[in-house]
This record gives sequence, structure tokens and C-alpha cells, in this order.
Amino acid sequence: MDVSDVEGDLEEVLIDEPTLNARVQELAAQIDRDYAERNVLMVGVLKGATVLMSDLMRAMHSHIDHDWMAVSSYGSGTKSSGVVRILKDLDTDVQGRHLLIVEDVLDSGLTLSWLLANLRSRQPASIEVLTLLRKPDAVKVEVPVKYVGFDIPNKFVVGYGLDYSQRYRNLKVVATLAPHVYGG
Ligand code: IMP
Ligand code: MG
Repeated sequence: MDVSDVEGDLEEVLIDEPTLNARVQELAAQIDRDYAERNVLMVGVLKGATVLMSDLMRAMHSHIDHDWMAVSSYGSGTKSSGVVRILKDLDTDVQGRHLLIVEDVLDSGLTLSWLLANLRSRQPASIEVLTLLRKPDAVKVEVPVKYVGFDIPNKFVVGYGLDYSQRYRNLKVVATLAPHVYGG
């Protein structure tokens, strides 16, 4: 989906395609280097990380394993509460594995800190986090993030995997939504 397909719905393009692509290549090269001696298991968080994961894994030169988890975080409206339920668990036994969690966006960080605690209890050999986007509030929570694609302002964004009511995930750029779309 191009910007021209949903022009009226968008306020501003924050990250365009070439910028996304260049950063993903850099991250892939960094992961290739960091895991040169170890077999990484990339754990994508559904559904927001799908687009990033598919670009990231194809940009990598080493063999990788990947798996998916789906979680739902209870909250009021758009705010996350930190109470999380597993909708789809991993197929893989992660004990002794080197995990890299792949997330779309870190906002309050509550979902991710729950996920980290849950995965740590399964005794992986190591665990790191990659997030495409990070919002300012994320610094308030103690979530150790090793790889960050972009720091963005505290605005609701869509595209490149991120949705509003399950739409815009297939938009090729990261953009803010016009207020009329979310009733703002
Ligand atoms: P938190 O870090 O627990 O507050 O929640 C992060 C989750 O909320 C992400 O994985 C997204 O699914 C969702 N989310 C947070 N900010 C945005 C946004 O700007 N656009 C789309 N989804 C978002
Ligand atoms: Mg997510």
C-alpha cells in the first residue's frame, strides 16, 4: 500500500521507504556480526513485527531460526496495562537458545517487560530485544533494548506492520494518522 492509496488518512510521513530499508540493512549487518559465533532464534511478536521480520531476515547473511508469539495486552483504550495474555505461544523450546525478540514499537514498555520475564523463565542462554520504533515513554520502564531502529515522538503511527484497527499494516512507510481517522 502506497501513501497515495490512503493519502487523506495520513497526517505526516515520519519514515519513508529508503530510510526504513537502509536502517533495516544496518540492523541486519549488526545482528550478523553479533551472532557470528551463536545460532540466533529470532522471536517475532505478532502481528506488528511481521513486515520488519521479513525484511530483516532476508537482509541477513547467516542462518537463522525464527518463531512467533502473539500476546494481547489488556488496557483501557490505547493505553497498555501490563496485564498480558498469550494468544499464540512459541513452537520452539527456547532453553539454552540465544533469543532476539523482534518488536514493532516500544511505547510504555509494559508488554515487552512482561514478555521478557516470561521468556527468561524458560532459561534461554541469552535474550536481547530489537524494536523498530521507540517512543519517549519507553525510557521510564527498565527494558533493556539492544537494537533500536528509530526514536520517534509520542504520536500514534501506522504502517510497516503497525496498525490502527488492523488497517495500514501493509503501508510501505511509517506515518502519523490524521485525527479524523481515529476520531481525534
Ligand atoms: P506498550 O509498550 O506495552 O505500551 O505497548 C506496545 C504495543 O502497543 C505495541 O506492540 C503495539 O502493538 C501497540 N502500539 C503502541 N504504540 C503504537 C502506535 O503508535 N501505533 C500502533 N500500535 C502501537
Ligand atoms: Mg506489538
